[in-house]
Amino acid sequence: MYTDMHSHVIWGVDDGAKDREETWDMLREAVNDGISRIICTPHITPGVYPFPQDVFDDHFEQALAFIRKEKLPLSLYKGAELLYTDLTPRLLREGKVPTLAGSRYALIEFSPSDKADHITDALQKVTGAGFVPIIAHMERYPAIGKIRQAEEMKTRYHALIQINGRTLLRKAPLLRRGFQEELFRRGLVDFIATDTHALPGRETCMTPAMEVLKDKYGTVAASAIRQRVNILFDE
Ligand SMILES: [Fe+2]
Repeated sequence: MYTDMHSHVIWGVDDGAKDREETWDMLREAVNDGISRIICTPHITPGVYPFPQDVFDDHFEQALAFIRKEKLPLSLYKGAELLYTDLTPRLLREGKVPTLAGSRYALIEFSPSDKADHITDALQKVTGAGFVPIIAHMERYPAIGKIRQAEEMKTRYHALIQINGRTLLRKAPLLRRGFQEELFRRGLVDFIATDTHALPGRETCMTPAMEVLKDKYGTVAASAIRQRVNILFDE
C-alpha cells in the first residue's frame, strides 16, 4: 500500500476538491489506487492569505466520518503545502502553520518564476527554524533545474525532493524531462505523490506512477521511495 503525502482531497479550502461529493469520490479512488494513507495538504500562503483552518478541520472530520461509515482502509492526516513567504519560518516555529502529519517535515512550494537565490535562502531559513523542507514538485522550478543544484539542495540545504506521479507518467507538461530522469537515476528523489486536485484531469495516479518507477529505475529504487515516506510518521 502507498502513502500519498501531497493531496488536495479536502474540499472547500483551496483549488482542490470543490464539494463534499468530490472528496468522497477522491477518497474511494485513492483506495482503488492502492493508497492507505493520505496527508491532506491544502495550499496555504503563510501570513499573506488567511487560511480557513476551521473549515478545513470541520471538513477533515467529516472525511474521517465518511471513511469510517464506508469502512475504507484509509487513514487521513493533516498537513499543508506552504507557498514560501518571509513569514513561513516564524509561523512554522510558532506552530501556526501545519507541517506534514505533525512531523518536523514541511512541504514547501515555490513560484515557478522564483530565482535560485530566493529558493536557497528559503530552504536555509526553514532549516534554521528547526524543520526539514520538502520541495514540492521539484520538477517545476527552472531556476533550480540542474542536477548540480538538486544535489546542493540536499547536501547543503538539507532539503528533500518530491516529484508528482503525473510527471512520471508524462501526463504533465515537462520541459526538462532529462533532468527528471537524472534525478531518479541518481537516487535524488525522496517522495512520489499524486498532488491530486480533483477528478477528472488531476486524478490519483500512485499505482501507475510506481509501476513506471519500477520499470524504468528498478525495484530497489521504487522500494526505497515507497519506504522513505515512513520518516514522516516515525516521530
Ligand atoms: Fe499541491
